[in-house]
Amino acid sequence: MSYSAIILAAGDGKRMKTSKPKVMCEVLGDPMIGWVIDSVRGAGISDEDIGVVVGNGAETVREYLAKLGSFRTFMQTERKGTGHAVMQASEMLKDGDNVLVMCGDAPFVDSDVLMSALNEHTHRRNDVTVVTADLPDPGSYGRIQRDANGAFVGIVEKKDCTLVQLGITEINSGVYWFSAEALKAALPKLAAENAAGEYYLTDTIGIIREAGGKTGTFTAEDTDIVLGANDRSDLLQLNIIAKMRIMAEHMNEGVEFVSTDGIIIGRNIKIGRDTLILPGTILRGNTVIGENCIIGPNSLIENCTIGSGVTLNSVQAYDSRIGDRVKAGPFVQLRPGTVLHDGVKIGDFVEIKNSEIGVNTAVAHLTYLGDSDVGKGVNFGCGCVTANYDGINKFRTKIGDNAFIGCNTNLIAPVEVGENATTAAGSTITKNVPPNSLAIERGETAIKENWEKNFKRKKKA
Ligand code: UD1
Ligand code: CA
Repeated sequence: MSYSAIILAAGDGKRMKTSKPKVMCEVLGDPMIGWVIDSVRGAGISDEDIGVVVGNGAETVREYLAKLGSFRTFMQTERKGTGHAVMQASEMLKDGDNVLVMCGDAPFVDSDVLMSALNEHTHRRNDVTVVTADLPDPGSYGRIQRDANGAFVGIVEKKDCTLVQLGITEINSGVYWFSAEALKAALPKLAAENAAGEYYLTDTIGIIREAGGKTGTFTAEDTDIVLGANDRSDLLQLNIIAKMRIMAEHMNEGVEFVSTDGIIIGRNIKIGRDTLILPGTILRGNTVIGENCIIGPNSLIENCTIGSGVTLNSVQAYDSRIGDRVKAGPFVQLRPGTVLHDGVKIGDFVEIKNSEIGVNTAVAHLTYLGDSDVGKGVNFGCGCVTANYDGINKFRTKIGDNAFIGCNTNLIAPVEVGENATTAAGSTITKNVPPNSLAIERGETAIKENWEKNFKRKKKA
């Protein structure tokens, strides 16, 4: 027997009031559908057996999915409900298979729950097994119906509930394991006779029972995992839950937080022991941070590899590599392609792009380095600029070990400054500077003695 999955991701997101597809709304910087895909993969279902039903903003969802892997997608041109969505993916229903159906807007359903529910499904030889949870406040979730003997007989949507049914706290998570045949037989029998005028997938439960099939439930212990986001307030709630869970995981590994304020850590971040994360720090993408670092306050780090003993204070860093004992900030931007070797010091108002900076080099203040290869032990004075772009092409600047770049030096690329060379403050360097030499390019200072008395005062008079 093999397994496949159908993920429903065509919804309009009317309640979210967004112009993007709802499943692209983000929890900790990743679209909800990305979380769902991870869980399905984690349950051992391979990409070619995962079908995603897309509709609203289909192109955006497809583009995002293509970055993750190669999944099958099915177009639902008109949104006529969750049952109608599954009909669009009926090619996925192969006799003998067990098929997982789940919503793209419930990001916390994890692989463990999917596998435990499958276990229950196959052990009990069910035709459908619904993952349920007991929520004290059942909100807008579908309510689980049981008969007098406790047998699971159906799901009633909130809109269709009687007053008594509204009080039921056992809810439908929107995650189901179906036997492919049972689902295939039930779909054509769905009718849109309900408050929403939609083909409800939830009606397949009653249909399967009527046909003599076996229906069961699997109750998730952890009620948070079933939470979905239909509106902005749900989405904020999911972000808060995910944030606290991820911080807890890092604390278990010895990461230090003194406050939770403004800290957002994505789900693929690794942080070493005794590293302190200060308020206002956002860690995104695939970022790895070593031990004994101080990150923050007010820093945004995306797709970076950071060594140990590093201090980043008010730093924005993207797609960069940072060695051990680097100190950067405050107010530093490291743009993609930056490599800072061990012991580098970057001070206030410095921007670095696509450049490699050698061991122990200091770029202390108000400097832009773009497309540069800088050696070890170089010292930049205040206000240095590599002019790397002539309006058409970009060129590199090369600076040898232990060079001294005086304040306000402009380096007009392509240009090279040799080892131990010095550029005088205020120089605009357009020629290569040989090792050990001084390059100076500035007008001489002319002194007009007694100028105040003889010239300026007369003029004023
Ligand atoms: C659905 C369930 C409800 C359950 C809840 C769990 C139905 C009828 N109701 O309600 O019992 O408690 O999920 O979160 O199934 N979608 C499509 N095409 C459509 C309609 C929806 O692809 O035509 C997708 C949406 O993008 C979404 C998912 O299906 O990812 C669920 O749809 P949504 O409208 O959010 O259903 P709920 O009202 O949350
Ligand atoms: Ca929903």
